[in-house]
Amino acid sequence: MTKERWGSGLGFVLAAAGSAVGLGNLWGFAYRASQGGGGAFVLLYLVIVFLVCLPLLVAEMALGRSTRKSPLRAPAEIAGKSWGLLGWLFLVVSVGILSYYVVLMGYTGTTLLNALLGQLPVDKSAATDYFPSISTGSVSLIGQLLSIALTGIVVAAGVRGGIERLTRLGVPLLFFMLICLAIWAVFQPNAHEGYAFLFGWDAKQLLDPSTIANAFKQAFFSVGTGIGAILAYSAYLSRKSSIPGEALAVVTMDTAVGLLAGCVTFPLVAILGLGDLVGAGTVGTLFSTLPHGLALPSLGIAGKIVSVTFFSLVYIAAITSSISLLEVPVSSLIDNLGWNRNKAVLCSVALVALLGIPSAINVNFLVKVDSVMNTLLIASGLILSVLMGWVVPKRLRADLTEVSIGNSQVAGLLWTLRWISVPTISLGFCVVAEETFRNIFMQ
Ligand code: PFF
Repeated sequence: MTKERWGSGLGFVLAAAGSAVGLGNLWGFAYRASQGGGGAFVLLYLVIVFLVCLPLLVAEMALGRSTRKSPLRAPAEIAGKSWGLLGWLFLVVSVGILSYYVVLMGYTGTTLLNALLGQLPVDKSAATDYFPSISTGSVSLIGQLLSIALTGIVVAAGVRGGIERLTRLGVPLLFFMLICLAIWAVFQPNAHEGYAFLFGWDAKQLLDPSTIANAFKQAFFSVGTGIGAILAYSAYLSRKSSIPGEALAVVTMDTAVGLLAGCVTFPLVAILGLGDLVGAGTVGTLFSTLPHGLALPSLGIAGKIVSVTFFSLVYIAAITSSISLLEVPVSSLIDNLGWNRNKAVLCSVALVALLGIPSAINVNFLVKVDSVMNTLLIASGLILSVLMGWVVPKRLRADLTEVSIGNSQVAGLLWTLRWISVPTISLGFCVVAEETFRNIFMQ
């Protein structure tokens, strides 16, 4: 496809971790965990991440590295023309997710600016009005457009000069900020109430369809596998890289950030007595409770420092993810039509911006697109696991044993992909699809 390559193995791991760690960990985790499930939700999420998403991530990386093609062309290249449809599914889902992802980035950027200028809501009625004020009209549109433009600028600068440079700096920085905030949260009075909400155990929840659906959506969205973004990144990998080790590093970092973020946001909600603002858990959870809580006069300057740090790290996490989503259409246009990178970026950015307008002006639309795209993300993950586990297992085995790991480990991985991942994702898909159908057509 292209002669571009990562500068180093570490550069790739940080870029892939940057793709995984994003709004899903910070906004999504708070939003979904606050809908209930407690420790059962967290446990299901962890099981799905390590038992289902990890083998799939290895398979997706191997597909990218062995074909060196873009997400649009890789499935057909490895398994014949009829698999070309999977490439199109990658494209639809990545563009669909990015269309509203940049809107959420816009909310984050606006909140960061308000935190810097000292304009966060100080009382409860202002807090109730705050999210509607940043999620509609020109404020939301400007945030969306600036965020997609920034994403485009980084991707246009290329794999090494743009993506790798940003993630090398951004990922360690966001880890550092998050650890500082988690330490600060531990020492706040009543922090244990937040942990109790997040990890409170009720075994019945393990069988609750909405907890199961939430855990699936959270795991797939957070790891970001099955959509072609990591495939696109892996096409720039050198033959020498050890894929399973790199995939494990990515998944571990992603999970650590998800849990750490929960350990920052939930104690804050409890400390500040904002449980009723969180309510049943909405997309606005992160953008309404925290800004208000951190603006309370009782916290003084600490509130300002924490809010600026928190929303800066959310924005950094988001942009290191949005660039990986944009790389899917960009690399496909370069690979398929022979366009240069700038032209491919310009065209993709224009399309994403246009498709995102309805989400930017209407939060309910955003919520519906999020549900549909999460369902399609799990569907494409399922098809990809069938392709790599059942259709081209020899190619997967050959690619992994060539440089990475021994025969027995590859056999174990392949077995897990075939017999654990495929059936579990099928089950998850049914639960999530049923819920999405109900939410969209029966409300
Ligand atoms: N993993 C990202 C997050 O947690 O915000 C979102 C994402 C990035 C999803 C890349 C899918 C993807 F391919």
